[in-house]
Amino acid sequence: MECYKFQLVAIVSLVLLLPSTQGWGKDGHAIVCKIAQSRLSDAAADAVKQLLPAYAQNDLSSVCSWADTVRFYVRWSGPLHFADSPDKVCNYDFKRDCKDQNGVKGRCVVGAISNFTDQLLTYNTKTKTEYNLTQALLYFSHFMGDVHQPLHVGFTSDKGGNTIAVRWFKRKENLHHIWDVNIIETAEERFYNSNIDDFTADLQKNITKGWANQIKGWETCDNNKISCADVYASEGVKAACDWAYKDVTEDETLSDDYFESRLPIVQLRLAQGGVRLAATLNRIFG
Ligand SMILES: *[C@@H]1O[C@H](CO)[C@@H](O)[C@H](O)[C@H]1NC(C)=O
Ligand SMILES: *[C@@H]1O[C@H](CO)[C@@H](O)[C@H](O)[C@H]1NC(C)=O
Ligand SMILES: *[C@@H]1O[C@H](CO)[C@@H](O)[C@H](O)[C@H]1NC(C)=O
Ligand SMILES: [Zn+2]
Repeated sequence: MECYKFQLVAIVSLVLLLPSTQGWGKDGHAIVCKIAQSRLSDAAADAVKQLLPAYAQNDLSSVCSWADTVRFYVRWSGPLHFADSPDKVCNYDFKRDCKDQNGVKGRCVVGAISNFTDQLLTYNTKTKTEYNLTQALLYFSHFMGDVHQPLHVGFTSDKGGNTIAVRWFKRKENLHHIWDVNIIETAEERFYNSNIDDFTADLQKNITKGWANQIKGWETCDNNKISCADVYASEGVKAACDWAYKDVTEDETLSDDYFESRLPIVQLRLAQGGVRLAATLNRIFG
């Protein structure tokens, strides 16, 4: 009994010590990937199946947060999860915003998406690729989710809302985490008995009904480009200004009003992330 108690304490402490995630939480990323995998062409579905690690059992959503779990020891990957703009600037500019803390150009979520797009394009070539395309697929699928989380294209000095302390109902949180996790979690608890598949199914229903006439527009990349993460980043920072940051003050309690008015934005961004991840993989794998 004592021993069991000790183990329990040890496990709980370990969980509490784990670093908070960046990007949609586990559920958000899984939802984006579930939607995407259901929309793949035969060629893309086959490539994904070939590239997924065996333990994923052909379920992309099970490994969509892999990039978050490795980012703390794969040091170069840290800056690739976001692209913050200068404070109060509600637009995205590649030259200005896509760099790491040392100012190295292209090291942000938008640069990473083009990087892994280019790597995945070597899948069908005759010569053996120099890249690990399993990793490229996992990074790519994760970053396509991240770029759709509005606060991943937030302001620089508050680190995309990470330093803005607020309460979510009774719990202490930061604004970034509310967009990564809490809005999704509260929706799942209230409307879906905490069942992520039911939430995903509802999003998919809306993709075929309410949003149906917008899907072509979401999928399209202008100028015949394969991926266009710059467009998603521009939408993201605008949503950050219009919804995530709007009317939020430090130490404020956010509850029903904020939840109800922001949930539609979260739903939209999850759906767009999934639809665009599929469309881009379909273009990549032809
Ligand atoms: C591109 O991917 C390689 C890993 O194959 C990584 O070393 C490099 O930092 C990445 N660059 C960007 C901008 O994503
Ligand atoms: C590619 O990366 C995966 C995931 O990190 C790893 O398990 C696998 O061994 C790597 N493949 C090669 C050929 O290095
Ligand atoms: C689906 O669309 C309806 C009608 O606009 C909306 O009330 C509902 O919240 C949406 N659900 C999801 C999961 O997108
Ligand atoms: Zn991330």
